[in-house]
Amino acid sequence: MFEDLRGRTGVVTGGARGIGLAVARSLAAEGVNLALLDLLDNVEEVAATIADEFDVRTLGHNLDVTDREATFAAFQRVRQELGVPQVLLTAAGIEVNKASVDTSAQEWRRVIDVNLTGTFFSTQAFATGLLVTGQPGSAILVASMSGTIVNVPQWAASYNASKAAVMHLGKSLAVEWASAGIRVNSISPGYVLTDLTQKIIYDEPSLLSDWVARIPQGRMATPDDLTGLVRFLASDASGYLTAQDLIIDGGYTAV
Ligand code: NAI
Repeated sequence: MFEDLRGRTGVVTGGARGIGLAVARSLAAEGVNLALLDLLDNVEEVAATIADEFDVRTLGHNLDVTDREATFAAFQRVRQELGVPQVLLTAAGIEVNKASVDTSAQEWRRVIDVNLTGTFFSTQAFATGLLVTGQPGSAILVASMSGTIVNVPQWAASYNASKAAVMHLGKSLAVEWASAGIRVNSISPGYVLTDLTQKIIYDEPSLLSDWVARIPQGRMATPDDLTGLVRFLASDASGYLTAQDLIIDGGYTAV
């Protein structure tokens, strides 16, 4: 569908499961060679499965995106083994749902570290390869509708603040790198059924009906609902689109 993507190299952080994995599979289906960077130990296995299924080259690399040195080393490995990545999806992220007065310093710092700082390091390492080689590229940062609205009834100020920052980080980098042909956009999903939300629902089952009642389309998203938008943003089809945040939420934020 986006033929220009065939043969390019892409990196997906948080690619071992959930939204990152669904996007990785859909990019592989377009012929993108892929590196999955994830904290989970099975990331190599997941990458190997994608290579078999879609006949592309992949690598899985164990990484904590909050470690700048390790992140740069991971991108160096990707450049050596798969070529300079021209597509990036930053899906590595965590959420702590807690009342603000009960949120510990450690919880606050970890959420900001993974969601914001980790996104910055990944995007920095991505752009470094492009700037050195003079190639264009497209980075897609996973923010959240929580960066624009305050979700209820659960409380997650650290998460919401981190995602608002990711959106503005994306705009800032997009302007800084526009003349180098590097586009940066963020996507802001509404509620998506993944391990992340399943754990929240498991801890507080009534949340599911609360959430769904507020979604005009009447259901949570599946990770696959996001893949078309990401492929469009990765492709030259969106060549003049940069420095934007695109909300994809089944209508949630309109009401
Ligand atoms: P998930 O928990 O299923 O997947 C997240 C992945 O990121 C996991 O594979 C995890 O191992 C990896 N990860 C976490 N911390 C990491 C670190 N420090 N370094 C490297 N990898 C790390 O979650 P899901 O739902 O797929 O979320 C993906 C992104 O989408 C997150 O940034 C999340 O905030 C965002 N998002 C999710 C929504 C949802 O409703 N599920 C809604 C809006 C945004």
